[in-house]
Amino acid sequence: MEKRGVEVLKDCRLSKSTAFTFEEKEKMGLRGLLPYSISSQEIQKQRAIENIRRKESNIEKYIFLSALQDRNERLFYRTVIDYLPELLPIIYTPTVGEVCQQFSHIYRIDKGFYITPEDKGDIANLLDNWPEKEVKVIVVTDGSRILGLGDLGCNGMGIPIGKLSLYTAGGGIRPEYCLPVMLDMGTDNEELLDDLLYLGYPHKRLRGKEYDEIVEEFVMAVQQKFPKALIQFEDFTTYNAYSILNKFQNKVLCFNDDIQGTAAVVLAGIYTALLVTESELKDQKILFLGAGAAATGIANLIVKALVEQGLSESEAANLLWFVDINGLMVKDSKDLMEHNLPFAHDFPTMNFIDAIKQLKPTFLIGASGAKGTFTKEVIELMSELNEKPVIFALSNPTSRAECTAEEAYVWSKGKAVFASGSPFKPVQYENKTFIPGQGNNVYIFPGVGLAAIAVEAKYLPESVFLIAAAELARQIHHSDLEHGTLYPKMTTLRTISFEIAVSVANHLYDIGLAGLEKPKNIRMHLKNMMYDPSY
Ligand code: NAI
Repeated sequence: MEKRGVEVLKDCRLSKSTAFTFEEKEKMGLRGLLPYSISSQEIQKQRAIENIRRKESNIEKYIFLSALQDRNERLFYRTVIDYLPELLPIIYTPTVGEVCQQFSHIYRIDKGFYITPEDKGDIANLLDNWPEKEVKVIVVTDGSRILGLGDLGCNGMGIPIGKLSLYTAGGGIRPEYCLPVMLDMGTDNEELLDDLLYLGYPHKRLRGKEYDEIVEEFVMAVQQKFPKALIQFEDFTTYNAYSILNKFQNKVLCFNDDIQGTAAVVLAGIYTALLVTESELKDQKILFLGAGAAATGIANLIVKALVEQGLSESEAANLLWFVDINGLMVKDSKDLMEHNLPFAHDFPTMNFIDAIKQLKPTFLIGASGAKGTFTKEVIELMSELNEKPVIFALSNPTSRAECTAEEAYVWSKGKAVFASGSPFKPVQYENKTFIPGQGNNVYIFPGVGLAAIAVEAKYLPESVFLIAAAELARQIHHSDLEHGTLYPKMTTLRTISFEIAVSVANHLYDIGLAGLEKPKNIRMHLKNMMYDPSY
């Protein structure tokens, strides 16, 4: 039966609130339940942004937006899409980091899906409780490594919720297709365990075989209940991130955003940086600070790109070097993990500064989560070695960045070609304004996700991320590069995501991994799938 009256207003997908026309009010039993005047969605959007701007802290803005999403979903997305550069830092990094830290304290609305060790053996049944029957994109975390903030346990739920909002805003995935999942396997964060308001499974983290079995059961339950859904793994600790990816990558439709999404967005930034330095990828030497999931994921994709350009895998790996917490990673390093092995060269180990002096890198890429590690000395050294040193300070949130945009530009005397993981304001240096680009994964995952579900991909091979990176780099304009911006404007995110989706979808057909018969017009097929929040 069709909903009427207050039931309509309580349904965030149906409600248009003050935008219902006189006829609709009459028909749906809404007379008397709303003020007289009718606001267009445009006016409602202005009211929403006014309210958001009135809030003094970012977390209050987040709470307002989250409540709007729960009251009037279409207005939420209209507002987010139209004010994306302003609202992206609220619904995602850096504010989402703060939101996760305070999740159990600011909890108001039940959103998402929680699985704990007590659900073992019953996960498929549990998924029946989700109200939507057609789920197409799942973002799942176990909360063990939230951004650069560490183990936040079930508080990490802010991440899948935020990412899925961006799938909808950027890639036009319908909100009802999206399922945020928290695999709440406990937490080793004592502060949370001692917090009376903590909402998660209040035990130490599950590890080893039992943990692996739950992850496996979850993935298999998804195959059973939502066989066409794309699973995005998000913010798992490095070891688990790799082992889960290696296990499922070529079996089910999934990817790891920290590894593969980051790799693609950074590779795109490398391509556009090379337009500025007017050089080629094969002539670079790239030094990473941090050898975790993000950095090694980036390195693996660069190797793939170089192999496509004719280098052997070992020639490609020789251009890539890593400094981790114990210094330069070399063959003799004691703390090598499997994913480090291809990049552990036959070389003496040394500290970061000496590594820069000896290796003379052209690119410095920070993915360490360690604030301030790109010191004045580091940037000055890079500027002595290079006419245009490329500096990527990728660690999130802003408080963890290896250096700020201002530091990069000022210490390099305006020479740095800079990008960051978190947003930074424009920097005035001498008579030039630099607008730092943000290597945000949001440039990649909505487009890849749209393509994957639109063609019913069987799985996503690495080549998909090479295609996505190249397409993103193609979207840059010379006017962006002139201001030192290595990524296209966020205002064009829907267009960018759409173009990435077209390229990736075509590629999936080319390599035989699309499950759906090829539509006559892929662009039209994708366009028709995209959610439009207008009334
Ligand atoms: P991770 O924990 O897997 O890796 C971090 C690595 O850095 C570890 O190997 C650790 O030993 C090392 N490290 C820590 N302190 C260090 C120091 N002082 N010097 C050298 N190495 C140090 O974490 P993951 O996933 O690789 O992420 C790292 C950072 O990158 C996080 O802050 C994350 O937010 C950021 N990131 C940024 C993205 C983007 O900009 N698009 C996407 C994904 C991650």
